[in-house]
Amino acid sequence: MKTVIYPGSFDPVHNGHLDVIERAAKLCDRMVVAVAVNHSKSGLFSMEERVDLIEKAAPHIPGVEVKSFDGLLVDFFENEKADAVVRGLRAVSDFEYEFQMALMNRSLEETLETIFLVPSQENIYLSSRIVKEVARLNGDINKFVPDVVKAALRKKLEIKS
Ligand code: PNS
Repeated sequence: MKTVIYPGSFDPVHNGHLDVIERAAKLCDRMVVAVAVNHSKSGLFSMEERVDLIEKAAPHIPGVEVKSFDGLLVDFFENEKADAVVRGLRAVSDFEYEFQMALMNRSLEETLETIFLVPSQENIYLSSRIVKEVARLNGDINKFVPDVVKAALRKKLEIKS
């Protein structure tokens, strides 16, 4: 039984994340999408909202669980008895940060392997930050997020502005 962890901020989940979830789910028996508490970023959505949006956006994928964690990824990895961590790699600009995280995680826990998956081309330029910016400026985000996330973004941004 192979377990893979897909960690991230997911603030909010977008089609690029869902693309990685679908690809990774085919490679393992159990996949845990792990929403991290990020103490250095103040998010738009609360932890509970992020988890809820992923559950609503990805209910069709068998073997996928959504959890949150606070603390080190390596500790969560050990608690879940996972076999690997998966991350999406979109562009060369992602590489340095991802490489640094993969090596740091491995030096903290030598059994932790990081697998990089490349999303499909139409999702390659997506990031939560850019989707939020387009939504905030009233741009069309239909192609970038599922309907449930679009509705949540609209509601949240109306409340905030
Ligand atoms: O979606 P993001 O913001 O790129 O995800 C980054 C994340 C959450 C995967 C990373 O910040 C993380 O693993 N945080 C948990 C704390 C930790 O283990 N930090 C050391 C990682 S090298």
